[in-house]
Amino acid sequence: RQEVIKLSTGSKNLDTLLGGGLETQSITEFFGEFGSGKTQIMLQLAVNATLPKEQGGLESDVLIIDTENTFRPERIIQMAKAKNLDPDETLKRIHVARAYNAHHQILLAEKAADVAKEFPIKLLIVDSLTSHFRSEYVGRGSLAERQQLLNKHMHDLLKFGTIYNAVIAVTNQVSANPAVFFGDPMTPIGGNIVGHTATFRIYLRKAKAGKRIARLIDSPYLPEGEAVIMISEDGISD
Ligand code: GTP
Ligand code: MG
Repeated sequence: RQEVIKLSTGSKNLDTLLGGGLETQSITEFFGEFGSGKTQIMLQLAVNATLPKEQGGLESDVLIIDTENTFRPERIIQMAKAKNLDPDETLKRIHVARAYNAHHQILLAEKAADVAKEFPIKLLIVDSLTSHFRSEYVGRGSLAERQQLLNKHMHDLLKFGTIYNAVIAVTNQVSANPAVFFGDPMTPIGGNIVGHTATFRIYLRKAKAGKRIARLIDSPYLPEGEAVIMISEDGISD
């Protein structure tokens, strides 16, 4: 078994909540409503992964499975500059695969190992884990199939994380309405399966003036708690 490495989020508050950062060989799920900052955190993690280990990085390349077409090179450039990195060099290390549907997304995760043979990938991002599944498997009749496919997909991701000693970060959109969030078994999408496979789950909610509140939920050994993070021009910070 390889030694677990930790990847900084860019926020000391959030890193501390996570016991030092996102761990390799685990899946970390960020969930929250639209605009809660899930994609911004994924882009920041991608930039941070290229940093030296002394700076909270993994000294690695990154693979992003982008299901919503929300990858923004301009935003990577901004975040790279804020870390005194060469923006072009940073972009070259971030490999983006667009997933056109749920089946394609599963296939891309299966093929991630091929990418890792060519590039030193130690961060695999799926943003969003659930959007295609949500739109393609609608209604109670397709719930079992959806959960089974999501379950397989999550296990493929975890296997990649274990073999390549990689951080796996995924996003999941949920309603901010507690009645929907806790009451309806259909939401959050993939709720139970995703919840049981993800080792760390972080619930994000909006606060004032660019701030977000991150809450650690159901962690196997870390205390539950909250951290305030900031989304600014420079990216994620305290
Ligand atoms: P969905 O994918 O729709 O579920 O949302 P999300 O959780 O991925 O939200 P996302 O990460 O896209 O957050 C968008 C928010 O980040 C915006 O509303 C802004 O508040 C903030 N943001 C994005 N880009 C910038 C930027 O360049 N500068 C600043 N200051 N804030 C930004
Ligand atoms: Mg997003």
